[in-house]
Amino acid sequence: MPNRLEERASKNMAAAKTAKAGAGGVFGKLIQEHEEAAALLRRLRTSTTAGERQRLYAEVRQQLLAHERGELAEVYPVFVRYEATRQIAAAHDANARQIEAAIRALDAAGADGTAWEPALARLVTMVEHHVDEEEREYFPVAQSVLGDELSQALLERYQARKQTELQLIAKESRPH
Ligand SMILES: [Fe+2]
Repeated sequence: MPNRLEERASKNMAAAKTAKAGAGGVFGKLIQEHEEAAALLRRLRTSTTAGERQRLYAEVRQQLLAHERGELAEVYPVFVRYEATRQIAAAHDANARQIEAAIRALDAAGADGTAWEPALARLVTMVEHHVDEEEREYFPVAQSVLGDELSQALLERYQARKQTELQLIAKESRPH
């Protein structure tokens, strides 16, 4: 059994390999967004005032939802076309629903309530799980199956879709 450090090192190597192989494509971009979301979540966890929490949460919420919805709309449907990536699409759907549910729970908890900390811890766990699966398992397979040209085309489609989703999310009514 590999220990946690070995697991982390091998995960980082897989992610680095994917990022290198598809640096100009959609998977490199998605990995970069994972890093940005992780940094925002770290700042959110250490924020001390309700105002700061609300501001950071609004930002990370918008980024996570647009990332998931962009992936679901433009990236994962392509996985269904190939034998090697077909199962990945179904697994990712379930994962994306869990993240949306964790976000709804945080919306309901409110930045100054007692339910905030456990709800945020749950979202962080869900996001870490999502990142780990995509970077260690899904993306390396998908990059080699789809190839550079399709990965590049998907990047453009993903980015356009993400912009649309960001605008839609900004218009959605929220409890706070
Ligand atoms: Fe992702």
